[in-house]
Amino acid sequence: MIVVQITDLHIGYAPTVAGVPIDTGARLDLAVEHINRLGAAVDAVIVTGDLTTEGSRSEYARVRASLSRLTPPCYLIAGNHDERSNLRAVFADHAYLHADRTFLHYSIEEHPLRLVGLDTHVPGEEGGELCEGRLRWLREVLAAEPRRPTLLFLHHPPFRSGIPSFDATACRGAEELGAIVRAHEQVQGIACGHIHRAMHVRWCGTVVTVCPSAAFQYPLALDGEHVDPVAEPPACMLHMWTPGVGLVSHLSYIPQRAL
Ligand SMILES: [Fe+2]
Ligand SMILES: [Fe+2]
Repeated sequence: MIVVQITDLHIGYAPTVAGVPIDTGARLDLAVEHINRLGAAVDAVIVTGDLTTEGSRSEYARVRASLSRLTPPCYLIAGNHDERSNLRAVFADHAYLHADRTFLHYSIEEHPLRLVGLDTHVPGEEGGELCEGRLRWLREVLAAEPRRPTLLFLHHPPFRSGIPSFDATACRGAEELGAIVRAHEQVQGIACGHIHRAMHVRWCGTVVTVCPSAAFQYPLALDGEHVDPVAEPPACMLHMWTPGVGLVSHLSYIPQRAL
Protein backbone atom coordinates (compact mmCIF):
# COMPACT_ATOMS: atom_id res chain seq x y z
CA MET A 1 0.00 0.00 0.00
CA ILE A 2 1.21 3.51 -0.83
CA VAL A 3 0.20 6.60 1.13
CA VAL A 4 1.36 9.97 -0.19
CA GLN A 5 1.71 12.77 2.35
CA ILE A 6 1.52 16.47 1.61
CA THR A 7 1.58 19.10 4.31
CA ASP A 8 1.63 22.81 5.17
CA LEU A 9 -0.16 24.08 2.08
CA HIS A 10 -0.69 27.53 3.67
CA ILE A 11 -3.30 28.67 1.16
CA GLY A 12 -3.89 32.40 1.70
CA TYR A 13 -0.27 33.16 2.59
CA ALA A 14 1.94 34.91 0.04
CA PRO A 15 5.56 34.61 1.16
CA THR A 16 8.50 36.06 -0.70
CA VAL A 17 11.41 33.63 -0.92
CA ALA A 18 14.79 35.00 -2.03
CA GLY A 19 12.98 37.95 -3.58
CA VAL A 20 10.47 35.80 -5.48
CA PRO A 21 6.76 35.87 -4.51
CA ILE A 22 5.34 32.40 -3.95
CA ASP A 23 1.83 31.48 -5.08
CA THR A 24 0.83 28.76 -2.61
CA GLY A 25 -2.31 27.94 -4.60
CA ALA A 26 -0.28 27.27 -7.74
CA ARG A 27 2.13 25.12 -5.73
CA LEU A 28 -0.78 23.06 -4.40
CA ASP A 29 -2.02 22.55 -7.96
CA LEU A 30 1.45 21.28 -8.93
CA ALA A 31 1.45 18.93 -5.92
CA VAL A 32 -1.89 17.47 -7.02
CA GLU A 33 -0.60 17.00 -10.59
CA HIS A 34 2.54 15.33 -9.22
CA ILE A 35 0.55 12.87 -7.08
CA ASN A 36 -1.77 12.01 -9.96
CA ARG A 37 1.25 11.33 -12.15
CA LEU A 38 2.53 8.83 -9.57
CA GLY A 39 -0.27 6.63 -10.84
CA ALA A 40 -2.81 4.12 -9.65
CA ALA A 41 -0.36 2.62 -7.15
CA VAL A 42 -1.19 5.45 -4.73
CA ASP A 43 -3.97 4.21 -2.43
CA ALA A 44 -4.48 7.31 -0.31
CA VAL A 45 -3.26 10.85 0.32
CA ILE A 46 -2.91 12.34 3.80
CA VAL A 47 -2.74 16.11 4.26
CA THR A 48 -1.12 16.82 7.61
CA GLY A 49 -2.33 20.26 8.57
CA ASP A 50 -1.78 23.97 7.97
CA LEU A 51 -4.02 23.70 4.94
CA THR A 52 -4.74 27.43 5.20
CA THR A 53 -3.40 30.60 6.83
CA GLU A 54 -6.43 32.02 8.64
CA GLY A 55 -8.76 29.01 8.53
CA SER A 56 -11.42 30.90 6.56
CA ARG A 57 -14.06 29.22 4.43
CA SER A 58 -12.75 30.92 1.31
CA GLU A 59 -9.27 29.51 1.94
CA TYR A 60 -10.71 26.03 2.48
CA ALA A 61 -12.73 26.40 -0.73
CA ARG A 62 -9.45 27.08 -2.57
CA VAL A 63 -7.87 23.99 -0.95
CA ARG A 64 -10.89 21.94 -1.95
CA ALA A 65 -10.76 23.15 -5.55
CA SER A 66 -7.27 21.66 -5.87
CA LEU A 67 -7.71 18.51 -3.79
CA SER A 68 -10.90 17.58 -5.64
CA ARG A 69 -8.69 16.85 -8.66
CA LEU A 70 -6.76 14.14 -6.77
CA THR A 71 -7.34 10.65 -8.12
CA PRO A 72 -6.82 8.78 -4.79
CA PRO A 73 -8.98 9.50 -1.71
CA CYS A 74 -7.52 12.12 0.63
CA TYR A 75 -7.74 12.49 4.40
CA LEU A 76 -7.25 15.84 6.16
CA ILE A 77 -6.09 16.79 9.63
CA ALA A 78 -5.75 20.21 11.24
CA GLY A 79 -2.62 22.22 12.04
CA ASN A 80 -2.15 25.38 14.07
CA HIS A 81 -3.27 27.53 11.10
CA ASP A 82 -6.56 25.65 10.67
CA GLU A 83 -10.05 26.15 12.05
CA ARG A 84 -12.10 23.07 12.78
CA SER A 85 -15.63 24.26 12.07
CA ASN A 86 -14.77 25.92 8.73
CA LEU A 87 -12.74 22.90 7.64
CA ARG A 88 -15.66 20.59 8.47
CA ALA A 89 -18.14 22.88 6.72
CA VAL A 90 -16.24 23.11 3.44
CA PHE A 91 -15.40 19.38 3.46
CA ALA A 92 -18.88 18.36 4.61
CA ASP A 93 -18.81 15.25 2.41
CA HIS A 94 -15.62 13.94 4.08
CA ALA A 95 -17.52 11.71 6.50
CA TYR A 96 -14.49 10.85 8.65
CA LEU A 97 -14.19 14.53 9.69
CA HIS A 98 -17.51 14.16 11.48
CA ALA A 99 -16.65 10.96 13.41
CA ASP A 100 -16.02 13.00 16.57
CA ARG A 101 -18.06 16.05 17.56
CA THR A 102 -15.13 17.97 19.05
CA PHE A 103 -11.80 16.85 17.65
CA LEU A 104 -10.79 16.16 14.06
CA HIS A 105 -9.38 12.73 14.80
CA TYR A 106 -10.43 9.49 13.15
CA SER A 107 -9.35 6.07 11.94
CA ILE A 108 -9.62 4.91 8.32
CA GLU A 109 -10.22 1.18 8.16
CA GLU A 110 -10.55 0.33 4.48
CA HIS A 111 -6.86 0.03 3.58
CA PRO A 112 -4.29 -2.67 4.42
CA LEU A 113 -2.47 -0.06 6.53
CA ARG A 114 -4.78 1.42 9.13
CA LEU A 115 -4.62 5.23 9.03
CA VAL A 116 -5.15 7.08 12.31
CA GLY A 117 -5.27 10.89 12.15
CA LEU A 118 -4.71 12.88 15.35
CA ASP A 119 -5.77 16.43 16.20
CA THR A 120 -3.13 18.59 17.91
CA HIS A 121 -4.87 21.89 17.13
CA VAL A 122 -5.27 24.46 19.93
CA PRO A 123 -7.23 27.55 18.84
CA GLY A 124 -5.04 30.66 18.88
CA GLU A 125 -1.82 28.81 19.63
CA GLU A 126 1.16 28.02 17.41
CA GLY A 127 2.06 24.92 19.41
CA GLY A 128 -0.02 21.78 19.65
CA GLU A 129 -1.52 19.60 22.32
CA LEU A 130 -2.75 16.08 22.89
CA CYS A 131 -4.96 16.54 25.93
CA GLU A 132 -6.23 13.70 28.11
CA GLY A 133 -9.41 13.37 26.03
CA ARG A 134 -7.50 12.98 22.77
CA LEU A 135 -5.00 10.56 24.37
CA ARG A 136 -7.85 8.45 25.80
CA TRP A 137 -9.44 8.26 22.34
CA LEU A 138 -6.14 7.08 20.83
CA ARG A 139 -5.65 4.43 23.53
CA GLU A 140 -9.09 3.02 22.74
CA VAL A 141 -8.58 3.11 18.96
CA LEU A 142 -5.21 1.31 19.15
CA ALA A 143 -6.44 -1.21 21.74
CA ALA A 144 -9.32 -2.15 19.43
CA GLU A 145 -7.02 -3.38 16.61
CA PRO A 146 -3.71 -4.48 18.14
CA ARG A 147 -2.71 -6.67 15.19
CA ARG A 148 -3.44 -4.25 12.34
CA PRO A 149 -0.40 -2.36 11.05
CA THR A 150 -1.11 1.30 11.66
CA LEU A 151 0.24 4.67 10.54
CA LEU A 152 -0.36 7.60 12.89
CA PHE A 153 -0.34 11.13 11.49
CA LEU A 154 -0.46 14.46 13.26
CA HIS A 155 0.61 18.03 12.50
CA HIS A 156 2.99 18.82 15.38
CA PRO A 157 6.01 16.50 15.73
CA PRO A 158 6.12 14.96 19.21
CA PHE A 159 9.93 15.18 19.54
CA ARG A 160 12.35 18.07 19.97
CA SER A 161 13.64 19.07 16.54
CA GLY A 162 16.74 20.96 17.66
CA ILE A 163 15.39 24.07 15.91
CA PRO A 164 14.74 26.53 18.77
CA SER A 165 11.96 28.50 17.09
CA PHE A 166 9.88 25.33 16.79
CA ASP A 167 10.87 23.69 20.06
CA ALA A 168 9.66 26.79 21.94
CA THR A 169 6.13 25.67 21.09
CA ALA A 170 6.53 21.91 21.36
CA CYS A 171 3.51 19.63 21.40
CA ARG A 172 2.07 19.19 24.91
CA GLY A 173 1.17 15.61 25.75
CA ALA A 174 4.02 14.22 23.62
CA GLU A 175 5.42 12.18 26.52
CA GLU A 176 2.05 10.55 27.09
CA LEU A 177 1.74 9.87 23.36
CA GLY A 178 5.14 8.18 23.50
CA ALA A 179 3.96 5.85 26.28
CA ILE A 180 0.93 4.86 24.20
CA VAL A 181 3.04 4.24 21.09
CA ARG A 182 5.52 2.12 23.07
CA ALA A 183 2.64 -0.07 24.24
CA HIS A 184 1.31 -0.68 20.71
CA GLU A 185 3.71 -2.49 18.44
CA GLN A 186 1.34 -2.20 15.48
CA VAL A 187 2.35 1.45 15.02
CA GLN A 188 4.55 1.23 11.92
CA GLY A 189 5.37 4.91 11.84
CA ILE A 190 4.24 8.44 12.64
CA ALA A 191 3.98 11.11 9.92
CA CYS A 192 4.09 14.83 10.84
CA GLY A 193 4.36 18.29 9.30
CA HIS A 194 4.71 21.80 10.82
CA ILE A 195 8.52 22.17 10.58
CA HIS A 196 8.64 22.73 6.79
CA ARG A 197 11.70 20.49 6.55
CA ALA A 198 12.42 16.76 6.14
CA MET A 199 13.37 14.99 9.36
CA HIS A 200 13.24 11.49 10.79
CA VAL A 201 13.91 10.07 14.24
CA ARG A 202 13.67 6.80 16.12
CA TRP A 203 11.12 7.56 18.82
CA CYS A 204 9.37 5.40 21.41
CA GLY A 205 9.77 2.17 19.45
CA THR A 206 8.72 3.53 16.08
CA VAL A 207 9.98 5.96 13.44
CA VAL A 208 8.73 9.53 13.17
CA THR A 209 9.09 11.35 9.86
CA VAL A 210 8.48 15.03 9.14
CA CYS A 211 7.43 15.91 5.60
CA PRO A 212 8.60 19.14 3.94
CA SER A 213 5.94 21.64 2.91
CA ALA A 214 4.27 21.44 -0.49
CA ALA A 215 4.45 25.28 -0.54
CA PHE A 216 7.70 26.61 1.01
CA GLN A 217 10.45 25.57 3.45
CA TYR A 218 12.06 27.11 6.52
CA PRO A 219 15.87 27.06 6.92
CA LEU A 220 17.80 24.81 9.27
CA ALA A 221 18.11 27.62 11.81
CA LEU A 222 19.84 25.94 14.74
CA ASP A 223 20.52 29.16 16.61
CA GLY A 224 18.02 31.58 15.06
CA GLU A 225 14.82 32.91 16.50
CA HIS A 226 12.31 33.92 13.85
CA VAL A 227 13.42 32.95 10.36
CA ASP A 228 12.18 33.68 6.86
CA PRO A 229 11.39 30.97 4.29
CA VAL A 230 14.32 29.62 2.31
CA ALA A 231 14.64 28.73 -1.38
CA GLU A 232 14.37 24.94 -1.09
CA PRO A 233 11.99 22.92 -3.27
CA PRO A 234 8.46 21.84 -2.35
CA ALA A 235 8.18 18.12 -1.70
CA CYS A 236 5.91 15.33 -0.56
CA MET A 237 6.55 11.96 1.05
CA LEU A 238 5.56 8.58 -0.28
CA HIS A 239 5.07 6.01 2.52
CA MET A 240 5.15 2.50 1.08
CA TRP A 241 3.94 -0.27 3.39
CA THR A 242 4.57 -3.91 2.47
CA PRO A 243 3.85 -6.92 4.71
CA GLY A 244 7.11 -8.43 5.90
CA VAL A 245 9.05 -5.30 4.98
CA GLY A 246 7.35 -2.55 6.90
CA LEU A 247 7.15 1.11 6.08
CA VAL A 248 9.60 2.61 3.58
CA SER A 249 9.33 6.41 3.29
CA HIS A 250 10.52 8.21 0.18
CA LEU A 251 11.02 11.96 -0.21
CA SER A 252 9.69 13.12 -3.59
CA TYR A 253 10.33 16.64 -4.87
CA ILE A 254 7.44 18.31 -6.65
CA PRO A 255 8.50 19.59 -10.08
CA GLN A 256 7.98 23.35 -10.39
CA ARG A 257 7.24 25.40 -13.45
CA ALA A 258 8.27 29.02 -13.66
CA LEU A 259 5.38 30.84 -11.97
FE1 LIG B 1 3.15 25.30 8.50
FE1 LIG C 1 2.18 24.43 11.70
